[in-house]
Parts: sequence; structure tokens; C-alpha cells
Amino acid sequence: MAETVQIDFTALKDAGAAPKGRGAKATGGTLVVLAGSDLAMSAETQAILGDAADLVKRAAATAKFKGASGSALDILAPAGLGFDRLMVIGTAKKPAKDAGKTAAPTAPDYVSLGGAIMGKIGGFPRVTVVFDLPEAPENPGAAAADAMLGMRLRAYKFDLYKTKKNDDDDKGDVRTVISIAVADPAGAKREAKNRDAVADGVTLARTLVNEPPNVLFPAAFADRAKELQKLGVEVEVLGEKELAKLGFRALLGVGQGSEFESKVVIMRWNGAKGAKGDKAKPVAFIGKGVCFDTGGISIKPAGGMEDMKGDMAGAACVVGLMHTLAARKAKVNAIGAIGVVENMPDGKAQRPGDIVKSLSGQTIEIINTDAEGRLVLCDVLWYVQEKYKPKFMIDLATLTGAILVALGSEYAGLFSNDDDLSGLLSKAGENTGEKVWRMPLGPSYDKLLDSKFADMKHVGGRHAGSITAAQFLQRFVNGTPWAHLDIAGTGMSSPSSDINQSWGSGWGVRLLDRLVADHYEG
Ligand code: BES
Ligand code: MN
Ligand code: ZN
Repeated sequence: MAETVQIDFTALKDAGAAPKGRGAKATGGTLVVLAGSDLAMSAETQAILGDAADLVKRAAATAKFKGASGSALDILAPAGLGFDRLMVIGTAKKPAKDAGKTAAPTAPDYVSLGGAIMGKIGGFPRVTVVFDLPEAPENPGAAAADAMLGMRLRAYKFDLYKTKKNDDDDKGDVRTVISIAVADPAGAKREAKNRDAVADGVTLARTLVNEPPNVLFPAAFADRAKELQKLGVEVEVLGEKELAKLGFRALLGVGQGSEFESKVVIMRWNGAKGAKGDKAKPVAFIGKGVCFDTGGISIKPAGGMEDMKGDMAGAACVVGLMHTLAARKAKVNAIGAIGVVENMPDGKAQRPGDIVKSLSGQTIEIINTDAEGRLVLCDVLWYVQEKYKPKFMIDLATLTGAILVALGSEYAGLFSNDDDLSGLLSKAGENTGEKVWRMPLGPSYDKLLDSKFADMKHVGGRHAGSITAAQFLQRFVNGTPWAHLDIAGTGMSSPSSDINQSWGSGWGVRLLDRLVADHYEG
């Protein structure tokens, strides 16, 4: 899965070999330097360029390169610089139309910058990036590490099933070896450690979403989750027999038309060793893992149905997040719980009109078998709150097409019974660029789930589809602080960006890792 980059940090003083500049180690390959508006460069960058600075100025004038973010100036390196190629990448953001001047860059800006750099240098074998910005960041080591994260996220490519890897549009196994030159490489390396854990978690989540549904059926998904044991995560897999005994009838109803066995996977990371009382209480993440969603008997139209292999993006995020937390040894007790099923039409499949008794004891009238996600989640939510008494539960699910209508791919829908948790999630969204938008809940929406025949029906009607789905889930959290993230618009098939070219985006790993790191550790 060709993550084809290898990145490390070196000192600025080793970065260049300009004749009258810094006579340091000449490494060949490509030299990348950064320039802000009107070609502003840091003093260090200019020193590294030495005589070549003048060449850059002239080339920039000819090419009308002014340092705008997203643009690059690509020139042959002059003899004596010690590199074959010289690239200047712009960092100057256009001020927003409604803002007087550009705001100071934040962490997501450095991540994006790293991604943009990777976008320009992907496929080059050897690259030295002088990461010394014209406007010095508050914490240069953290900014460089953020850029490294962005580079890794941008470099991700899922080509496991392409047998021809040398086409023009496919650079095959070319490796890009990148040195990021910074003032304090030791500091950047320290900061980079947890970013590597984050990149690994996002990569894992993306791959799970991208895998085809004949390969990643529920048991295979559970096996992938089991691999977290290598990192010290306890992983428990419940099969249909155990689930039936426990009473997961709503979840099992969804999978009963499939040849594949339904699974629930519980992952436990106990990183808050020695914590007592409230501090030891786990945080809990719950994911919808519908490995393929045909709609069941209420079958979906054929067009685009292949996308429903990604209907496990919530579960993929939970597995990726647990990977990240364990890999960076987060000081937190965390539960990851996923319901993994396949929704198929069949002689044995569930029907509209069926009534099932959920694990909570509440009965549910099935209206549309394509609203399967909430039936999977409701039993897992109930199980987690009852068994683990968590501080909070956050579920992620590609739950409704309606959230795409409301928010598109920019924001995930956030629904919550807790203003504090909701606020922290919104903040984490701004700090990572994985943004959430809070949507309303309330008794009048809840009422839409009243049923003639059972305690509730599981679909509320045509309007406010994402909200009634969330209202349904809320009936299974038993008062636990809870947030639901509807990621149907962000988890898959979202437009590519500086930091993501993959169909499966791995959305949510960075958001929830940030939430834990900022508020629930130590
Ligand atoms: N997995 C779908 C939602 C979805 C749609 C995810 C598009 C990603 C992209 C979900 O199971 C579903 O089918 N929801 C129905 C609910 C309806 C039947 C009440 C929907 O949104 O149409
Ligand atoms: Mn569905
Ligand atoms: Zn679905």
C-alpha cells in the first residue's frame, strides 16, 4: 500500500551547499525552500540558497511566482548548489474576503502545508525541505512535525489491487526520501512521535474503508481489529452465538440476510494505569461497521451502490483511533466498540414490519431495512454504557444521506445531549480541520418515532432524517453524556485535498485523538 515516503529531520546547517552560502553537505536530489508573499524568505533560507537567491528572484519574476500558497517555482539548480533541482513553494495565504488581514497560521495550516509540499514533490527520489518559514511559528518543532504529518497523509495511496504499477499516473514503488531541515531537529523529532502514531491510525482507517467488501467482510474486519493486540490493546470478538445470548437482537436482525456472520468487537486500551475513581472511568468510541449496505429488502438503487463498501467508515475510524492511542501510549482508558455486519436482501432477511426487541428491552418496529445503521448502533451503545459506565460515548456512523444534503463534505453532523462534550468536539474540530457542526435534538423530533405497534419505529419520515436518526440513538444512551457524529459526507468519497487523495478519508481519527490528548489524559 505503497506509502512511499520516508521522512526524517536534519539540521538547517546541514541543508545546503551554496558556494558562498553555507558550504555544508551536498546531498543531490531536490532542494525545496519556502517563500511567503512577495517571495519573502527567512534569513536561514537565504543563507542556504547563497548565490542561487538571485537566480530564484529572476526566475520568479519571469514565471510571475509571488509565493502564493499552492503555487511552486521549479527550476534547475545552478552548479555548485549541491542539488539537481530547486523548488520554491509558496506559503502566502490569500486573506479571506471578509477579513482585514490573514490570521496567524494554526496547526491544521502546517499540516496542509506539508500536504501541499508532498503534492509537489511526490515521486522525486530525494528531497531536502528547508522548513524555515518567513514568519516563524510559535513552536517551530511542532510546526515541522505537523508538516511531516501532512506529508504522510498526502502520500497515502491505496493501490493494493492494481497489478500494473508503472503507468504514467502511477509512480509504482518509487520511494521518496525526505529530509526536513529545521533549526532544532531533536525538538521536531520529539514532536513527530505522536504525529507518526496519528498518521498510522489515519492510514489504517483509510485502508479499511478502501478495501472491497468481498475482502473486508465482518469476520475479516474483526481480524484486522485483532491486530491491535500487538500494541497492547485488549480485543474481544463476539460472534452471533454470544450476541444472541446477550440479546443483541436489533443488530443481529440487520445481519440475518447475510452469509457472513455478524460480529461485535470490543477494544480496550488501559493507558491510565493507577488512575482511581472518576479518572479511571473510560472514554468510549462506538462505530457503525456495515461492511456492505445493499439496503436489504428495502433495496437501494444500483447507481453508485459500490460506494456502500464504505459504510463501515465509523468503525474504521474507531479502529484507527485505538491504534493511534495505543501507539502513542496515551494516558487514558479507552473503549472502542464496533458493530460489524453486512446488510443483504435474502429469504432470511429482515422485513419492513418486523418488530425486534433490542438489547435495552425496548421494542422496535422496522420500517425501512435500509435504515440499518441505527439498529446496529443501538445495541452497541446500550451494551457499552451498561458494561463500562464510560465518562462519555461518542459514536461515528455513515448514518444518513440527509446529512450530505445538509452539510455536504465540509462538516460532519454533530448531535449531542451534552453541551460541554459538544463544545470540546467543536474546538477539536477547529484545531484539526476535521470540522463538526452541531444540529438540534428535541422532544418534537423524538415524537416522530412513535409507533402504532412497538415502543418505537426506527425511521421518522421524510423530513429531518439525520435528526430523527440521532433521536433514535439517544433512546439507547441511558443518560450517558453522548455525541453522535454523522460522517456520511466526510468519511468517504469527499473531495481530495492537500492532505487526502484517498477515497476513504480516515475522517475522525485526528479529531478524536485531539479531543483525548487535550482533555482526557493524565
Ligand atoms: N449507509 C446509508 C447512508 C449513506 C448514504 C451513507 C450515502 C453514505 C452515503 C444508510 O444506511 C442509509 O441507507 N440511510 C437511509 C435512511 C433512510 C432509509 C431513512 C438514507 O439516508 O436514505
Ligand atoms: Mn442503509
Ligand atoms: Zn448504511
